[in-house]
Amino acid sequence: MIDDMLREAAFVAGEWLAVGDDVLMVEDPADGAPLGRVPRLGRAATARAIEAAAVAQRSWAARSAGERSTMLSRWCDAIRAHREPLAALLTAEQGKPLAEARAEIDYAAAYVQWFAEEGRRIEGDVLPRDHGDRRLLVLKQPVGVVAAITPWNFPAAMVTRKLAPAFAAGCAVVLKPAAETPFTALALAQLAEQAGLPRGLLSVLTGDPAEIGAELTANTLVRKLSFTGSTEVGRMLIAATAGTVKRLSLELGGNAPFIVFEDADIDAAVEGAVQSKFRNAGQTCVCANRLLVHDTVYDAFAERLTRRAAAMVVAPGRDPGCEIGPLISRKAAARVGSLVADALDRGARLLCGGVDHPLGSPYVMPTVLGAVTADMRVAREEIFGPIAPLMRFGSDEEALALANGTDAGLASYFYTRDVGRLFRFAEALDFGMVGANSGLISTEVAPFGGIKQSGYGREGSRYGIEDYLNLKYLCVGIGAADDITGAAASAEAA
Ligand code: SIN
Repeated sequence: MIDDMLREAAFVAGEWLAVGDDVLMVEDPADGAPLGRVPRLGRAATARAIEAAAVAQRSWAARSAGERSTMLSRWCDAIRAHREPLAALLTAEQGKPLAEARAEIDYAAAYVQWFAEEGRRIEGDVLPRDHGDRRLLVLKQPVGVVAAITPWNFPAAMVTRKLAPAFAAGCAVVLKPAAETPFTALALAQLAEQAGLPRGLLSVLTGDPAEIGAELTANTLVRKLSFTGSTEVGRMLIAATAGTVKRLSLELGGNAPFIVFEDADIDAAVEGAVQSKFRNAGQTCVCANRLLVHDTVYDAFAERLTRRAAAMVVAPGRDPGCEIGPLISRKAAARVGSLVADALDRGARLLCGGVDHPLGSPYVMPTVLGAVTADMRVAREEIFGPIAPLMRFGSDEEALALANGTDAGLASYFYTRDVGRLFRFAEALDFGMVGANSGLISTEVAPFGGIKQSGYGREGSRYGIEDYLNLKYLCVGIGAADDITGAAASAEAA
């Protein structure tokens, strides 16, 4: 089934470039077995892709919104029709359980459908006139060629979350998917081509991240860069695009607090924590990173969460019943292990997990840590693994100070039944997204993005398309302010 969609190639300026001598290997994280090869491209191929994108973008922008929408709808239908092979491919290169891969394909298609519809509603404005002899308008126009750099944790949804609004707005895209997961992006490109994507409007570059990144950030034809990934790389991209003053959308790292108040429905909070913490083996930017639990419910919550976590099935993603797949790499698993070791060294209590999994690295046991404190690395760094650190608090003030005590500002969560507290906390949390009594907040319908060092820009929703549009102010002089209605009335009276 994987062979149905796996294409060992790159897609540059409308051509599929087969692998040659210079290649990158892609491995299945479930067992380290080679999955396939892709060409190792560099600056020259990137420049060619950008030039083709600039040409294709002009005629794409000149088409009607309806035509662009039709192409996106056909792409969406094709993705849905290929749900099973795409999900199998995604699991093979990324490792997540097949059920989660299927859900990700649905999520990816939902962005395409959403923006097929949203692209038909890009409307400008007519402003109140400031003088009688001129009219003021606002036009919305595509930003032009967009560079998109996508991560390995959602190899399908992060691609469509950027490409669909870009195409709907009339932009072209040069995409650099993560080196670990190029095949899902290439499969999506094949389906887009079949759906009628004009030649050159999309390129998918595989290869040397430094060389491709250098061209994407320096080339003046690229007008915008959209990146999902670490804050560290986000900072480098801000610096690298300064010379050409590109628009940026950055969805960077998180450090989500998950607060359980004393009046919370504890069973619901445990389920929410499981969804938020263990989705994709804890490898999402919106995963609960610190579980802050009120003193009076701490023991009950810790006991129930530990029971749930200890029962989770860790296995290769393709195995039926798998709930937690391997991490993306042994290096990632070793880093997660070092966070647990640091916490235990500093006095955290191991409630479950924390030992090597029988399948070996990169499989990591779901782990719950008690008595975690704010100085531990596990509370300060984005974990990106199935580790749930529990911290105590005694008052609302303390919970808020702990929750906001981070430079990250992506997602946050809390559970309470007090409606007053619900609104107070929703407003006081310094994060771009808040889940109140909900551990799973991601949807194409809502604006996804952060504040502080989690980045800027929004993806999805009716706001997401704005990141791909420039506002142009148009001032139209209409000559002397003759009152033609008054003149007409006098003519009629005469
Ligand atoms: C991410 O981890 O960057 C995306 C997660 C999501 O869309 O839910």
